[in-house]
Amino acid sequence: TGYTTLDQGFVNTASTKSEITYIDGDQGILRYRGYSIEDVAKNSTYLETAWLLIYGELPSASELEEFEEKIRRHTLLHEDLKRFFDALPHNAHPMSVLSSAVSALSTYYQDSLDVHDPEQVEISTIRLLAKLPTIAAYAHKKSLGQAFLYPDNSLSFVENFLKMNFGNMAEPYEVNPVLATALERLLILHEDHEQNASTSTVRLVGSTEANLFASVSAGINALYGPLHGGANEAVLTMLEQIKESGEGVEKFVQRVKNKEDGIRLMGFGHRVYKNFDPRARLVKESAHEVLAALGIKDELLDIAMELEAVALADDYFIERKLYPNVDFYTGVIYKAMGFPTRMFTVLFAIGRLPGWIAQWRESNSDPKTKIGRPQQLYIGEPQRDWPTER
Ligand code: CMC
Repeated sequence: TGYTTLDQGFVNTASTKSEITYIDGDQGILRYRGYSIEDVAKNSTYLETAWLLIYGELPSASELEEFEEKIRRHTLLHEDLKRFFDALPHNAHPMSVLSSAVSALSTYYQDSLDVHDPEQVEISTIRLLAKLPTIAAYAHKKSLGQAFLYPDNSLSFVENFLKMNFGNMAEPYEVNPVLATALERLLILHEDHEQNASTSTVRLVGSTEANLFASVSAGINALYGPLHGGANEAVLTMLEQIKESGEGVEKFVQRVKNKEDGIRLMGFGHRVYKNFDPRARLVKESAHEVLAALGIKDELLDIAMELEAVALADDYFIERKLYPNVDFYTGVIYKAMGFPTRMFTVLFAIGRLPGWIAQWRESNSDPKTKIGRPQQLYIGEPQRDWPTER
């Protein structure tokens, strides 16, 4: 139109229309396809919610059964892809392993490169949903130096995932139903969150007509950063540092307020939520339930609760409308489940996958989609003459 406005960080600019997720940040409302996050988390499963996000409606019993069966059929990884993990160092961050392996899926499923073929889009959807948990569990096992466990399709999606992570070749594994229920709920809470950084990345890459695996791999890398999904890992590291340093919560909060070394209260604040994050409330409930059910007394949970109380009573946080976000209490639960800190963001990625897929497909099937191409305001040197002597 002849003029360009600057909106650094896209604070005001909508990049797309969407029918998938609704957020009212002032009132702390989050809805998937019109259903409140509280109802979805209480009544649904990870895969049923995935269906809802991707196809727009709740599935019938037979549609859900068929969907689950299709996913079970694709949980195995190609044996060559299994060997791909051998080439990576055992101390690699599992998020890097995850994005690399997802990117490599395009090398095995080359038909998926045709983003205009609805059948290919469908099969890529199933493959990704089925294989990401297997890839994630392999990344975990690799870091432990343990043998990979093949998926067990007699189990539910979440139970199988727990077994692949915590089972071993020598002993039978019994799934703890408390963990399975809690993990299912946490995954549901992460499934979509409209145009956050990783989802916008998936849509932007998808707008170039890159395939679903390539786009989701880019989304995983966007999620990796500590200001986004990496915050759940950063929260636990922060809580552990507070515990070990013995400096106390008040002192730590003071250092945050002084912006000492640019430190932030990780797991606090959100670009959209300015009242409370409805997911954080549900996660906090789960944290208490899981620790009580497992009979674990974790000092880190006490520190987290004290931090929350101190921050919520402090003008610095009140004025800036900073509240606990979804990442604040998840780490305490993942730790109680036995996941190492470095796996936390991987769990976020599995949770977010259905949202990425739904958003990619919405963009891909919209004839109005254009390649994403932001403008800039140039502030560099004006035209200069090339120096005759140097
Ligand atoms: N601790 C201390 N101060 C903060 C925090 C925090 N966590 N978050 C924002 N502020 C301050 C910030 O310093 C600024 O203050 P001032 O006006 O004095 O400079 C003011 O609040 C506004 O901050 P902003 O960076 O302009 O806000 P934003 O909307 O760009 O950032 C955010 C949102 C989530 C990146 C930020 O709140 C943050 O860095 N939080 C910590 C990381 C985190 O928990 N991320 C997870 C987000 S939720 C799930 C997800 O997306 O993965």
